[in-house]
Amino acid sequence: MRDDSSSWSPPDLSHVWKHLADHGYAVVEDWSIGLADDFLAKFHKKYFTNRKLRRDKGDWPRDRKRARDVIHYTWAGTRLRLREYATIALTDRAGIKGTRLHKRIRILADPTAVHLVRTLLCLVPPRRRQPEGTFGVNFFRTFTDVVTKPHHDDEQFIILYVMRRKGDGARSYLYRIPENSDPALPLDCDSPCELVLDRQLNPGELLIFEDKLFEHGATPLIPAPDGTAMRDVLVCTVDYDETYLKDARAEQTSTVGTEFAMARGRD
Ligand SMILES: [Fe+2]
Repeated sequence: MRDDSSSWSPPDLSHVWKHLADHGYAVVEDWSIGLADDFLAKFHKKYFTNRKLRRDKGDWPRDRKRARDVIHYTWAGTRLRLREYATIALTDRAGIKGTRLHKRIRILADPTAVHLVRTLLCLVPPRRRQPEGTFGVNFFRTFTDVVTKPHHDDEQFIILYVMRRKGDGARSYLYRIPENSDPALPLDCDSPCELVLDRQLNPGELLIFEDKLFEHGATPLIPAPDGTAMRDVLVCTVDYDETYLKDARAEQTSTVGTEFAMARGRD
């Protein structure tokens, strides 16, 4: 499945790009990035269902339900081309060792989802865009813990779009990494760690941030008076090449090299 539509023009997102440049993150409402009033309700109804989401053994938080897609995008000027990526496998990510295959939803079959992916990729300031990359799209439904602890996802940008919440809590936070700190080492919060965002995001709100600048996370959900809680959020990652493309390119190069050597052998 691919999407090459050229009739689409990106919305004016200069308010997001400016906040990102000044602060490293931005919180915006969906209408302000050109999504229609009924977009959230329709998109949520279509994707956040028991048929589409799955609870996977070994995942953490344990009670989380999820699904995932990975889009391969290319920018040529202002033209954005999208294709489903070959795999959605995650390897050694989020503190979980090994390769995981979560439930896949191929969202490019749906024009509404294509519109969302295009809009979210346009949140990345033009000068920060990579000519080619992968874009991870994660559908998360949590009931208790949202994440385990402050962390990096080791990608270029992270985008959260909160779609529904029952109960309280689930405050999203960002701790700015002190300058000159070694990103490979765990954050030592005895050293000055500035809490720059501590905010409960409501349905319709999006948070975008540059991953390397912050450790991020969210506090646990607090149940509603009936004792239950639930939060549906779309978490997207503008990936670095190391996530998928670097290995794919290396594999391609070695295949071409082998084919070349075999062709030479036949000369
Ligand atoms: Fe994360």
